[in-house]
Amino acid sequence: MDNMTTTISQLKEFEGKEVSLNGWVYNTRSIGKIWFLILRDGTGLVQCVVVEAETDKEVFDLENTLTQESSITVTGTVRPEPRSVGGYELGVARIEVHQIADEYPISHKEHGTDFLMSNRHLWLRSKNQNAILRVRHQVVKATRDFYDNNGFTLMDSPILTANSVEGTSTLFELDYFDRSAYLTQSGQLYGESSAMAFGKIYVFGPTFRAEKSKTRRHLTEFWMIEPEMAYCDLDENMEWAEKHVSYVVQWCLENCKEELKVLERDIEKLEKVVPPFPRITYDEAAKILKDKGSDFTYGSDFGGTDETIISEQFDRPVMIHRWPAEIKAFYMKRDPENEKLALGVDMIAPEGFGEIIGGGQREDDHDTLLKRIKEHELPVEPFQWYLDLRKYGSVPHSGFGLGLERTVGWICGTKHIRETIPYPRTMYRIEP
Ligand code: 4AD
Ligand code: MG
Repeated sequence: MDNMTTTISQLKEFEGKEVSLNGWVYNTRSIGKIWFLILRDGTGLVQCVVVEAETDKEVFDLENTLTQESSITVTGTVRPEPRSVGGYELGVARIEVHQIADEYPISHKEHGTDFLMSNRHLWLRSKNQNAILRVRHQVVKATRDFYDNNGFTLMDSPILTANSVEGTSTLFELDYFDRSAYLTQSGQLYGESSAMAFGKIYVFGPTFRAEKSKTRRHLTEFWMIEPEMAYCDLDENMEWAEKHVSYVVQWCLENCKEELKVLERDIEKLEKVVPPFPRITYDEAAKILKDKGSDFTYGSDFGGTDETIISEQFDRPVMIHRWPAEIKAFYMKRDPENEKLALGVDMIAPEGFGEIIGGGQREDDHDTLLKRIKEHELPVEPFQWYLDLRKYGSVPHSGFGLGLERTVGWICGTKHIRETIPYPRTMYRIEP
């Protein structure tokens, strides 16, 4: 790795040695015969010290030229400095300038979110945004590790599909040669056929919904992790869900310490996220709302405020199961003990971060499933392949979808979902 340059995150391995760091100017500050440059390289920040008596005049004079975000390579000696971020600083010998940046639109003062979102391509460089997206990376890594280590096979589902999954009101429709197609709302149906081929699988990819709601929890393009298990009932499904979520949270506590500190996340709240998670029925959740004086009507879905009230009763995610069948998707199996209830489960994150998981046990009887497709006024033809799964060795099976962005938002303590994905897509924003 001789030709690789050093990064700020590696400085502790180079104490007393000379290194070259490639990066961007974060800030400069002068005290006469010495000036300080804070360098940013994407892995962290480091203070670089330029002393008049120790550098060429050309280098020393750069103080007047270097603007915020100018790209430079700084060469100097690594020395411990307890007061500096990361515990090290660089005694500068040379600076090579690559480009002097134009006046940078994002200064170190406060800006409105709309302005920052319009400059998302630059805003990603900021400390908090950087921390959130690093946590996102670790959530993805932990998720993959979790399923890979538990005997699941990764199965990609198509993005272009002929059928809806989660109702027809949020479909993005597009021309597909001489017919129409949709952007997928969920990889689940293909996950089910894959589970019949491989046993335990997970789908991980982008999903799309034409959400007309302008809330802090909805994107039109978001990523979902969707495990699907053959020979699995609702109870085992909930076990997988709590194992997955607690694994991811504990991984982040261990591996995102710096990021969570930057974000001022209350770590104690996350430390409590270990199994078992409370499991309550929809009826029990409805009773909580009634007792707390909510104007919620029995039989409807929970709104954001309802979810917050429910989550406040628990110190870890809560799983709500057995929902009124009318408000759930066509593919859900009914509770054999009460035909009016669907064997669905939602997981609600603590602290008012809302629903992070939706899933359940699937209808596995051919004729019942066909009846449900018709009841939901869906066209039967695009579901023929899906119905086949109930003809050739049908088994009880279950799965769920975890919304990546909502999960990252909760772990980071970020109230608005738009900061949890590099380039958010909403009804009002498709640029940058
Ligand atoms: O509850 P949903 O709609 O469930 C499904 O799509 C199932 N087919 C998944 C399955 O069983 N394989 O969506 C699952 C999760 C939600 O709990 C939420 O976290 C997230 O996906 N989600 C969204 N995230 C951001 N923006 C949106 N518009 C979202 N819609 C759902
Ligand atoms: Mg849902």
